[in-house]
Amino acid sequence: MSTRVVGSALLRRIRPHLLSAASGAGREPPAYTLLLSVRAASTIASPAKKEDEAKPSAAATPNEGKLVSNYWGIERSQIAKADGTPWRWSCFQPWDAYKADTSIDVKKHHVPTTLLDKIAYRTVKTLRVASDAFFQRRHVYHALLLETVAAVPGMVGGMLLHLRSLRRFEHSGGWIRALLEEAENERMHLMTFMEVARPRWYERALVLAVQGVLFNAYFVGYLVSPKFAHRVVGYLEEEAVYSYTEYLKDLEAGAVENVPAPAIAIDYWCLPPDATLKDVVAVIRADEAHHRDVNHFASDIHCQGMELKDTPAPLGYH
Ligand SMILES: [Fe+2]
Ligand SMILES: [Fe+2]
Repeated sequence: MSTRVVGSALLRRIRPHLLSAASGAGREPPAYTLLLSVRAASTIASPAKKEDEAKPSAAATPNEGKLVSNYWGIERSQIAKADGTPWRWSCFQPWDAYKADTSIDVKKHHVPTTLLDKIAYRTVKTLRVASDAFFQRRHVYHALLLETVAAVPGMVGGMLLHLRSLRRFEHSGGWIRALLEEAENERMHLMTFMEVARPRWYERALVLAVQGVLFNAYFVGYLVSPKFAHRVVGYLEEEAVYSYTEYLKDLEAGAVENVPAPAIAIDYWCLPPDATLKDVVAVIRADEAHHRDVNHFASDIHCQGMELKDTPAPLGYH
């Protein structure tokens, strides 16, 4: 049977199942349409259709329309937005997008009571002094570098919980996914700010050095005391909320130009097409407030003598 005949047979079978969806558990993704997803009957990939649309940014699929490998043999799903235009991102899909809950209390503070809490709080406050001296009110560069740091703890914590789950033959209570979700969300913050500003060579060098130190320090810190590690991140997130509040103040006062929102941010946070940088900073600040709550909650679980797996993780908490 030729490839074309098998392909036609497959098309007839899947046509009734063309999917339209508009909801997901715990999230509000935008309406989207999965037009076609076909596993080719041979290992020879059909050349993808050339899209009329210009590449929106560096974040969009770089090799769209090019035959990458004749082994894969799977055509990329053609996904459209609610307005019928093609989905342009390969780094996330419509079901990863959500509307941030901006009603969250951005002033909430965990009062340090135990010695461990006080050490965590002082550590973060000391780091804040150094960060303020370096960035002052250059908000976008502060945000850019802050996000390269903020995306590390969730990945390290998630990785260590993953390994523990394998070693001990036990469930994680959803915490692996919750921490990895946080890391991915922070990385999307970074992808967004990359569309607003580009780091200079010395800032890239700083990121390299900070990442080398932070990854290893957090790795060891999480093994020794996950209670302390999550508390530190909780306070770091409180500082992130404060930083974005200052950013918003300068945007509102006109000290920083309120440019149109990057396209990637509009699609990721389901923002209106005329959204601005101010809207983007507001939803990112809400994300940081959620990360703050998740990490203080995780630390509290340990403080009560339990392990994270004993309490269901706040998955999809945005
Ligand atoms: Fe962030
Ligand atoms: Fe965060």
